[in-house]
Amino acid sequence: MKFNKTVSVSAAFIVLALGVSGLPAVAEEFDEMDIEHWQEEYMTVVDRGDKAFHGGLGNENTVSCDQCHPNGANIHPETYPKFQTQLGKVVVLGEMINWCIMNPLEADALPLDDAVMVALQAYIHHERRGVALAPGKH
Ligand code: HEC
Repeated sequence: MKFNKTVSVSAAFIVLALGVSGLPAVAEEFDEMDIEHWQEEYMTVVDRGDKAFHGGLGNENTVSCDQCHPNGANIHPETYPKFQTQLGKVVVLGEMINWCIMNPLEADALPLDDAVMVALQAYIHHERRGVALAPGKH
């Protein structure tokens, strides 16, 4: 009960704060052109990830993701975060991608917000779009 009270008090505070500061209570507006633009940006990143996945990472040993994962669709991004035995803990998708980058590809791990890492994840997720989220699943 104590928890509920705290939540409603916080909610009331936020409503009050917005009212006082005069911020609009609705989300920012956008139109069809915005959506088209965002979609184009998104697909550009997916395509970049597609290329990186299929041999575009420039690693010295030339091993590529698609040699073991013929396309992004046979891996399961929807099951992350999950426990991975290779890493001995619950990890996000990017940490597992880095495991493959460091081991089979023998390259340096990427920062999780690196543009190539984002592109790889965009491609892998895009290949599995529509699949229900199942975090933790094996
Ligand atoms: C030599 C083979 C090999 C290569 C090359 C390889 N991987 Fe993997 N990958 C594996 C193995 C083995 C696993 C672990 C499977 C498991 O534990 O379920 C794995 C797991 C993954 C997973 C997690 C799959 C899941 O369903 O949990 C992702 C994501 C992944 N790899 C992405 C990549 C990416 C991106 C690349 C290229 C940078 C890559 N892999 C290159 C062998 C490889």
